[in-house]
Amino acid sequence: MTHLGHGVGLRPSHYAWLLEHGAAGVEWFEVISENCFGAGGRPWAVLERIRDEVPLVLHGVGMGVGDARGPSDAYLARLREVIAALSPAWVSDHLCWGSVDGTWTHELLPIPYHERTLAHVCAQVDRVQGSLRRRLLLENITSYLQWQASEMTEGEFLAELVRRTGCGVLLDVNNLVVNATNLGLDPMATLEALPPGSVGQIHLAGHTRYPDGSAIDTHVGPVPDAVWAVYRAALRRFGAVPTLVEWDDEVPPIDVVLAQAARARAIEAELLAPSTPESPAP
Ligand SMILES: [Fe+2]
Repeated sequence: MTHLGHGVGLRPSHYAWLLEHGAAGVEWFEVISENCFGAGGRPWAVLERIRDEVPLVLHGVGMGVGDARGPSDAYLARLREVIAALSPAWVSDHLCWGSVDGTWTHELLPIPYHERTLAHVCAQVDRVQGSLRRRLLLENITSYLQWQASEMTEGEFLAELVRRTGCGVLLDVNNLVVNATNLGLDPMATLEALPPGSVGQIHLAGHTRYPDGSAIDTHVGPVPDAVWAVYRAALRRFGAVPTLVEWDDEVPPIDVVLAQAARARAIEAELLAPSTPESPAP
């Protein structure tokens, strides 16, 4: 997969700036797929301004590969239309469920990790990849509860999903840290469970910690030190991976978000720079 570098999420609060200035200084944008499902309007005005200047990637929040019925044919048809219009470098969504019989929770909800759900999700991912005619990346989510029925870890589930379907992983490092804080899970165990080459993109973001020790995945503020630490470990395991900073609440001017992307770029350069050959002894 092409290493696009270090991008940022396209957010409505930056639309006016982008319409005036274009995408100069941005390596790539991640666009929320469902924001493009309606024709026209400001999202498309911005996309038409920047799409020839900068690579775009589509990231969905409503596919629902874990829903009992899986994504609808209508949803996939709309997504195919957006893909045809924007030619994204890749397409991603989340490993989750979010609706029952057409009623949407508008949440990314965890699925129990066992063989029966794995077989179901594999069938849905096969269906999606066949429909879109491209590889899908699926993101690990934050979860505030765990299913007692789970028989494997999230990392083991994702690894087997990758092996059976050929899909990839969008590794959200912040989500690993939030789940570690709330559920006591080990981010390093997830990294070790995922095979090298399986991670096609990384997400970085901030979260909010509360006095009781809990954390909520708010995507607010700069990336915390704990997330940068796991990012370093991920780069050591997976090598250079296209990385994106998500900032969704109290969104600052785009320069502030780009500074976070620049920090990710600097960390990658520091960790993965080829070692300098030693000078021959005189
Ligand atoms: Fe994410």
